[in-house]
Amino acid sequence: MPRVEFLDLGRVVEAPVGATLLEVCDDHGLPMETACGGFAACNSCRVRVLSGVLSEVEDVEDPFLDDPGQRLGCQARVVGDVVVRLEPGG
Ligand code: FES
Repeated sequence: MPRVEFLDLGRVVEAPVGATLLEVCDDHGLPMETACGGFAACNSCRVRVLSGVLSEVEDVEDPFLDDPGQRLGCQARVVGDVVVRLEPGG
């Protein structure tokens, strides 16, 4: 399975292809905020991608992303090894 590193949390976990980063955090007890419950409406789950790739950006994410290096953890899905850090929006 791909490896997902949460650099700021000091954790590397294995995650199935197709899982959202929010699901990965839930599965491993990692503290990703989810004010809207994972419906691309709050920006609290935002991450910065430091290396690797995730699934294609969903249209619903666009309003929350300041630049192409950011993703919403509730929408971005694992496709391979990736390194991210939590970067919630205000
Ligand atoms: S959990 Fe609210 S936007 Fe992702």
